[in-house]
Amino acid sequence: MANREHKVDHLDQRFHGPPVPVLPPVEQPGAASRRVADPYALCCRAFRVLTIVAIAVGVVALVLWLVSLPSALKAYVDAAELTRFDLGNDGKQDQLRIRNPNRDQAVLYRRLEAVALYGGERFGYVDFPRMRQGRKSTMVIRPSFRGQGVLTGASAATAFRRDKERGFFNIIVKLHTRVRLKAMIFVDSVEYRPDMDCYIRVPDPSNATAVALGFTATRCHVDGFL
Ligand SMILES: *[C@@H]1O[C@H](CO)[C@@H](O)[C@H](O)[C@H]1NC(C)=O
Repeated sequence: MANREHKVDHLDQRFHGPPVPVLPPVEQPGAASRRVADPYALCCRAFRVLTIVAIAVGVVALVLWLVSLPSALKAYVDAAELTRFDLGNDGKQDQLRIRNPNRDQAVLYRRLEAVALYGGERFGYVDFPRMRQGRKSTMVIRPSFRGQGVLTGASAATAFRRDKERGFFNIIVKLHTRVRLKAMIFVDSVEYRPDMDCYIRVPDPSNATAVALGFTATRCHVDGFL
C-alpha cells in the first residue's frame, strides 16, 4: 500500500528527470525523410560539384598542355670547309644553323657538343658552353675540328680512297644535346636529349672540280625530342 502511495506522490511532484523530447509536428512521411537525409544529400551534391570542377580543370590543363607541346628543333649545315683532309691531320670548319621554331618556348642548352665522324671513326669533338636560344630564333654555331684526330681504321682508309676519287668526303657531324624548354619565368620543361645527325658531302680542297661544285646545304635529322 505504502508503495502505491509513493508512486502517486511521485506523480504529483515536478518531473526532474531528463527532458522529454518534444516530438516534431507531424508532417508528410516524404518530407520528414528528406529533412533527415539533408546533410548527406548536401555532402553528395558538394562532392558531385567538386568532381565536375576537378574534371573540368583536368580537361583545361590537358588542352593547354597539348597546345603548348613543343615542336622539334631543326638543324642545317649551311657550310662546311676542309682546309686539309687526310688521314693524319684534318682541318675542318662547319657552319651549323639550329632553328627553334617554338613561339612560346626558349631553349636552354645544358649540353651541346659536336662530334665529327669519318668512315665510322671519330676525328673531332667540340664542346660548346651552355647557352640559351630565344623563341622563334635561329642560332649559328661553328664547330672547328682542326688537327684533332688521326684516322687509323681500315674503314676510314677505304672511305678515304673512295671519296678522294669522287672528289667529296662523306662526313657525319653529330650534335649531342641536353635541352630544357623555358615557357614561363619559373617553369622549365623536362630535359630532352635531341640528337642531330648531319650527313654532309664536303668537297676535297685539293680537287678543283669538286671545290667548284661546292658544298650543298644539308638538313640534319633530329630525333629524341619528345
Ligand atoms: C675531282 O672531283 C670530281 C667530281 O667531283 C671527280 O669526278 C674527280 O675524279 C676528282 N678528281 C680527282 C683527281 O680525284
